Amino acid sequence: MVAGQNTQVKAVKTRQQIAIGADFGAGTTKLALEDSVSIRKLKHSSKLVTIDEPLKDEFSPKDGGHFYYHEGTRDDLVGKGFLTGELAQWMRPTSHTRLSDDPVMKAENSLQMLLGVLSTSCFNEEDLSVNLIVSTHSKELFSNDLKDKLDGKHVVSFGSKDGKRTSVYTRVLSVVPEGAGSYIHAQSTGMTKDGMNLMSVDFGTSTIIPQVFSPNGKLLYYQPLEAGGCIDLIGAIAKDPSFLQLLRSGRAANADLIREAIEDGTFEYGRQKFNFSDVYRKHLTSWLIPRLQKSLQVTNEWQDSSHLVAWGGGSQLPYMAQLLKSRGIQVVPNGCWANCLGLQKIAVACLAREKNAKR
Ligand SMILES: Nc1ncnc2c1ncn2[C@@H]1O[C@H](COP(=O)(O)OP(=O)(O)OP(=O)(O)O)[C@@H](O)[C@H]1O
Ligand SMILES: [Mg+2]
Repeated sequence: MVAGQNTQVKAVKTRQQIAIGADFGAGTTKLALEDSVSIRKLKHSSKLVTIDEPLKDEFSPKDGGHFYYHEGTRDDLVGKGFLTGELAQWMRPTSHTRLSDDPVMKAENSLQMLLGVLSTSCFNEEDLSVNLIVSTHSKELFSNDLKDKLDGKHVVSFGSKDGKRTSVYTRVLSVVPEGAGSYIHAQSTGMTKDGMNLMSVDFGTSTIIPQVFSPNGKLLYYQPLEAGGCIDLIGAIAKDPSFLQLLRSGRAANADLIREAIEDGTFEYGRQKFNFSDVYRKHLTSWLIPRLQKSLQVTNEWQDSSHLVAWGGGSQLPYMAQLLKSRGIQVVPNGCWANCLGLQKIAVACLAREKNAKR
């Protein structure tokens, strides 16, 4: 045996294997990973900037992700820095990449988003070995692409170009359809009913997806609607005449400010102190009803034997739970995280299976 080979093998064997559920959403990238005591949930808005020059100041992890790619499987990233989340938005307010602009970009930029989110998590290790279950809206279109973009070894510095180097080993255990993780989460939170199908609607940023699962969790129906997700609701609010009157610029209001004010429940637009609660309620109904009707129509043949639920971040929008409840649809707890938390459970199970198989 060549000198050093033995120690190298040993290092690979002892590296901690981290099971991660990765949901590269159009609006938010969500990672769930195991900690020694709990499941850690990390989330960034799905925004990205590639930088060629050093940053002019230091930023703290809560501002967003920042990493520099020294070397690794992805030749196209070598020698570049990357900003993700709010940091990307601050750095290039209008010219950052938004993953919501095109579904292809979610796969294309998945590694950058993964490393960006990981950079915020105080990882101080020399080596990180991450094992991913990733979801996609279209396995046919994106499964291979996601594996190609994510699998490999990546030597990066988190937080700055000159910081300590970390070797990140990434391995995609499996690419699964978007609802698979949410189903597992629904099951673990007692939202599935014995002997009944589960009919669900995922209210995402770009997509609305009606799905039906059999009593043992097999996917019977899955088809995103033609109509867009929450991004359409926010867009309609931004163009409401009340905003046009307020701003007097002839342009729509800022979608990010509207989304933040909806998410925090204040409905206060930016510094204008304009409360748009009534505008929101009006648009919520006209956005939701046709999407709900279409979802119920396409899944009609399974409904008598189905328990009806909703998940995705849109299920947590203010007043959604009441509107859905009045139509017999229950919102699963922590809807925004449902898919990601379920994916993490699948990743843990896959790793355990591999470990047992080696024994
Ligand atoms: N806790 C919350 N309260 C209110 N709204 C929320 C909450 N969490 C997320 N949202 C909203 O839900 C919407 C959808 O978020 P989600 O994270 O499900 O989208 P995504 O997974 O990125 O998109 P897609 O599934 O289309 O790729 C967003 O507009 C977001 O603002
Ligand atoms: Mg989603």
